[in-house]
Amino acid sequence: MANSIANRSDSGDTVTVTWTPETWRHKSAAHQPQWPDIPELEKVEKELASVPPLVFAGEARDLKQRLARVAEGKAFLLQAGDCAESFDGFNADAIREKLRVILQMAVVLTYSSGVPAVKVGRIAGQFAKPRSKPTETVDGTELPSFLGHMVNDLPFSESDRRPDAQRLVQAYNQSSSTLNLLRAFTKGGFADLHRVQAWNQEFVASSNQGQRYTRLASEINRALRFMEATGISSRHPEISEAEFFTSHEALILQYEQALTRVDSLTDEWYDCSAHMVWIGERTRQLDGAHVEFMRGIKNPIGCKVGPTATVDEVLSLCEVLNPDREPGRLTLITRMGADNITDGLKPILEAVRDAGHPVVWACDPMHGNTFTSDTGHKTRHFDDVVREVTGFFSVHRAVGTWPGGIHVELTGDDVTECLGGGEEVHPQDLGKRYETMCDPRLNGRQALDLAFQVAELLDQ
Ligand code: PEP
Ligand code: CO
Repeated sequence: MANSIANRSDSGDTVTVTWTPETWRHKSAAHQPQWPDIPELEKVEKELASVPPLVFAGEARDLKQRLARVAEGKAFLLQAGDCAESFDGFNADAIREKLRVILQMAVVLTYSSGVPAVKVGRIAGQFAKPRSKPTETVDGTELPSFLGHMVNDLPFSESDRRPDAQRLVQAYNQSSSTLNLLRAFTKGGFADLHRVQAWNQEFVASSNQGQRYTRLASEINRALRFMEATGISSRHPEISEAEFFTSHEALILQYEQALTRVDSLTDEWYDCSAHMVWIGERTRQLDGAHVEFMRGIKNPIGCKVGPTATVDEVLSLCEVLNPDREPGRLTLITRMGADNITDGLKPILEAVRDAGHPVVWACDPMHGNTFTSDTGHKTRHFDDVVREVTGFFSVHRAVGTWPGGIHVELTGDDVTECLGGGEEVHPQDLGKRYETMCDPRLNGRQALDLAFQVAELLDQ
């Protein structure tokens, strides 16, 4: 039985536990809100269990196939979006700008390296955050930490910080509208490669990276015109539409369980809240509720791997999360920090390679490189981001594994949250447009700059 796992009972006997979408409830779940009103939470869970799924199992399988190509070294994963989506900044422009910068990055990666980019947004569900401390104390008042708009609100007041289960419904509704718009943008003309030039936003276009992008876009336009001139139609869905998938950290398991449904074609369980879901660095305990939930769903899944992960832990995670060794099923998202990347990652890569696990390796160069600036802003330096990605490529090349992708926090907007980059953001600029609700994101220029640097690494 693929979904069963051997567990030790209290008496020491080995018992086989069959997975269901609720077996996680028998395990301990880290980083969960203290819901003050359990009957209300249960009511919401019931409601969400009956709403339509956000994605279809077949789409999740498509993504798994694309990721299997990444695992083989034939494609590259670009996973990107907000650290935390907001209920407040919810409008079509923000969604379009995020999509636009991801499309631009994908074009740069594909055109420069010839490797197809699999595009996955941290979007349409990225509403819950694990925090380093469960509570925050200001002037002697202790309140629950902000855990993302799916749980509570950011202002430091008792009513804002009180976890409210109705927010799960709002997260579902916002995810639904976001997905609807993403589907319209990607299939309805906005993502047509003929418009590659138009994706360059004004504040990006004036920068060096923007100008470099303009030159690349002109070459693509010329190639499309050449195709037409030779009688080959460039009006294929592969050119006029983009394939775009959604993902988020599966932190609030009541929400994930409620959206987990049996696929009528295969009779298997899929978490229909997103195409891909991942386990965060703080919730990847082997005996914990998150690993238990994720091992049973059939979606492609991710798991963050930080500097404290041991080789044995990672091998066990591979065994538990992908016992059938299905390519594309498991993406390990490493976030070692620029200083640890070589020494931290090498033994893990070697062990997973030797064990024959077909994982996708993605580099999250953001979460291991966060610090607080003198101005009091949580930030990251663009140079550290590039340093971690460069180290990621070299250590993979040394071990003979495929540096399969990047996982980054970005926004299409002209924010000043990360330092450095081509048109440098300086410490004194951080306060100007620091808009993130959680971690600092690359702005459109920095994101494009990173894409060019990754494309060069891919091309070597
Ligand atoms: C995140 O991706 O926003 C996050 C919290 O990352 P990690 O689990 O790697 O700390
Ligand atoms: Co983050």
